[in-house]
Amino acid sequence: MVYSQAKVIAGGLAHIPVVIAVFYFILTFFNKRALKFAEANKSKKPEPKQVETKTESKPVSTVKAESPKPVKKKHADVPVNIYRPKTPFEGTVTGNYSLLKEGAIGRVNHITFDLKESDPVLNYVEGQSIGIMPVGEDANGKPHKLRLYSIASTRHGDDFEGNTVSLCVRQLQYEKDGETINGVCSTYLCDIKPGDKVKITGPVGKEMLLPDEEDANIVMLATGTGIAPMRAYLRRMFEATEKEKNKWNFKGKAWLFMGAPKSANLLYEEDLQRYLENFPDNFKYTKAISREQQNTKGGRMYIQDRVLEYANEIFNMIENEKTHIYLCGLKGMEPGIDEAMTKAAEEKGLNWSELRPQLKKAGRWHVETY
Ligand code: FAD
Ligand code: A2P
Repeated sequence: MVYSQAKVIAGGLAHIPVVIAVFYFILTFFNKRALKFAEANKSKKPEPKQVETKTESKPVSTVKAESPKPVKKKHADVPVNIYRPKTPFEGTVTGNYSLLKEGAIGRVNHITFDLKESDPVLNYVEGQSIGIMPVGEDANGKPHKLRLYSIASTRHGDDFEGNTVSLCVRQLQYEKDGETINGVCSTYLCDIKPGDKVKITGPVGKEMLLPDEEDANIVMLATGTGIAPMRAYLRRMFEATEKEKNKWNFKGKAWLFMGAPKSANLLYEEDLQRYLENFPDNFKYTKAISREQQNTKGGRMYIQDRVLEYANEIFNMIENEKTHIYLCGLKGMEPGIDEAMTKAAEEKGLNWSELRPQLKKAGRWHVETY
């Protein structure tokens, strides 16, 4: 068949709308797909804010499946090592008094140092420790090494002026070959007088910091001077002037388990009773007075016995991702607490040896024992 030139041109022109329609269809199809893809990816993206600021808290049930998230610059704003052993700050003692009642065992003092003159400023947050360098030399003629002490005051200090730090110190004493040996630094601290100068280093430690959330639950297990950081936490939560200063409106539950040998050895008892009266819905206080109370087996009552007694309540709290647990005091209590937690977990059908590392990884299990 033979077409004239005019016919060929007309036929070609007639195809133009078809070609345009095909192009239009292709463009619309790919545009829609691109939009869908972008939308799907947007919903997968993590909130940038969460990555930076979220604490590591996770519900126990979900912690298991997740690998640790690299949290950048964790607690980057917490001060550390402002003063080191070679260049310590010389603080002035402003107070040193006994925390014990008549009939108590040993010697435990509350000691406060003025930090006003520090330059750079020696500041700290609740849950940190400072180093103390006792005067004198060791058996080898070398200056005594520093000893660490948990800070017992809030960052605002006991007088709320923000330029003091307080400690809670037990004098170490033990018998050796019929002789009483006094610990070097703890004796030095218990004996110092207002006006004395003391070499201070630090602050150190990020293990015992409080979470930022106002509705966090804080379970505290303390023996003896292990109450030091807990005293700071509780002041931050419940002390009126402190609350005005810190603007941290604690709304969670705080539960202190306190181990002491005798009632007369209970530390900061009046403050704790006041918090109980003023904040009955937020504060719970359970004592284990080892030489006055007995556990179910007739032995000394230790905090791990109390943990077992309240196992159900404690584990209900642990299942809440906002619950943090803090242990401080005698190293020797750790196996006992572990044993109690194992039994308590079993009663809830949980496995403590799996659960504890998960809580640790999630930043909810805090231990400082010595
Ligand atoms: P030292 O003269 O150093 O004597 C201690 C040494 O005596 C031991 O190393 C051991 O060799 C020996 N010894 C001890 N007991 C016996 C015994 N029964 N029989 C034989 N030998 C023995 N302490 C507090 O009071 N309050 C706190 O808030 C506090 N917080 C701390 C926080 C951290 C992070 C750490 C690591 C420790 C904390 N300590 C606290 C303990 C403190 O650092 C000192 O270890 C403690 O005061 C004893 O120091 P010292 O110089 O008096 O004893
Ligand atoms: P105890 O000394 O009667 O055996 P402090 O520091 O004032 O001595 O208080 C420490 C408290 O911790 C005491 O009641 C002490 O009891 C108790 N304690 C001692 N050993 C352990 C342990 N292994 N686990 C838990 N509590 C303990």
